[in-house]
Amino acid sequence: MKPNPALGPSRRRNSTSRLTAAALLLSTLLQPGLLRQAQAGDIEVLHWWTSGGEARAALALKASMQAKGHSWKDFAVAGSGGDSAITVLRSRVVSGNAPAAAQIKGPSLQAWAREGVLTSINEVARAEHWDELLPQVVSDQMKYRGDYIAVPVNVHRVNWLWVNPAVFARTGAKVPNSWDEFFAAAETLKKAGVIALAHGGQSWQDLTLLETVAIGVGGADFYRKAFVLREAAELNGPTMEKVLTTYKRIKPYTDRNAPGRDWNLATAMVIKGEAAMQLMGDWAKGEFLAAGSQPGKGFICTPAPGTAKSFIYVVDSFAMFKLKNPANSAAQKDLASAVMSPEFQEAFNLSKGSIPVRLGMKMDRFDDCAKASALDFNAAAKSASLLPSIANGMAAPSAIEWALKDAVSQYWNSDKMSAAEAMKRMVEATRAK
Ligand code: BGC
Repeated sequence: MKPNPALGPSRRRNSTSRLTAAALLLSTLLQPGLLRQAQAGDIEVLHWWTSGGEARAALALKASMQAKGHSWKDFAVAGSGGDSAITVLRSRVVSGNAPAAAQIKGPSLQAWAREGVLTSINEVARAEHWDELLPQVVSDQMKYRGDYIAVPVNVHRVNWLWVNPAVFARTGAKVPNSWDEFFAAAETLKKAGVIALAHGGQSWQDLTLLETVAIGVGGADFYRKAFVLREAAELNGPTMEKVLTTYKRIKPYTDRNAPGRDWNLATAMVIKGEAAMQLMGDWAKGEFLAAGSQPGKGFICTPAPGTAKSFIYVVDSFAMFKLKNPANSAAQKDLASAVMSPEFQEAFNLSKGSIPVRLGMKMDRFDDCAKASALDFNAAAKSASLLPSIANGMAAPSAIEWALKDAVSQYWNSDKMSAAEAMKRMVEATRAK
């Protein structure tokens, strides 16, 4: 995937729709009263939102900062799942040249804060009552020793199945709710000569697929014990064996060119009807929308098989770095405030495929997938089925996450590795430092 020109290096896809989104947001933010008086500063934000839908969303952020008079320095690092972005960020921070903010999430926020490189944004958070505006599971994660060091952007749901209804209608396949139905549909599609599942064979996508199968086959309680508490007895036990076997049964329904493929190219296969389904977080919805495809018409969103009551979440957030220049620090506070504003939460999430993280937001401009996601988020929180994504940086220290990605990817790619061997490697991965 190539970087994006409007944001950073080279790419021009969907520029019209992006500009429209930016213009809309700009006009909202220019309404009297919404502008705070601040000294203009430079805002440099590191992120990896470079696909069509992601870039449209990121443009909303750029527009809101420019509306406040700041100059936006985009620091977009292409590379699915953000693996390359974090490597680049580390070298910038080590050389004393940190950006104002960087897309960091989950336990990594605490790890960066412990290094002493993040700054407190309590002044903004207190003045704007963030504690009351955020679910506690989120506000706790945004704080280090009681201080807000990051601002949350959204809530993504991972356990979605994306379906091309035209391909289903043409082949007579039925949209699945359970894994049995999934394999029945996949078989029908395969017999009709269609790629049943578009997969991107990168280790973070391999693990994203596994966690979705895990919650579908093993249930929320199993998921929590295996991936959040990382109990060896669950990582290496009969339920995990069933999960791994089900996971591997999916592979023959993916295509030979899957290895190395970016997630958004897999989504594009579903958009174009080259593949029938994708199991992926709702950042995929951003791609459908950016391509002009509408929910219920061009695509269908449905919970991944067996996961209607569960919700694997990702909360994207921006960690705030210590800066030397006072004008840039002031601009950084404006950034924090803008990200939490209802206007931004709506504009950004309409493009990103996620839902607002700010509580009490009106959902009337959102589509049915987002409305379902918001309802399911609340229901899952009440029934202890709201769980952090291990594949997308929310559930484990990054060394463990990386080791798990490796172990699972090796299993997915090997014709010889047994589920027993994979489980042994997964347990070993949880000891990574
Ligand atoms: C992030 C999303 C992003 C996706 C694909 C996920 O881990 O949370 O914001 O769109 O990766 O890059």
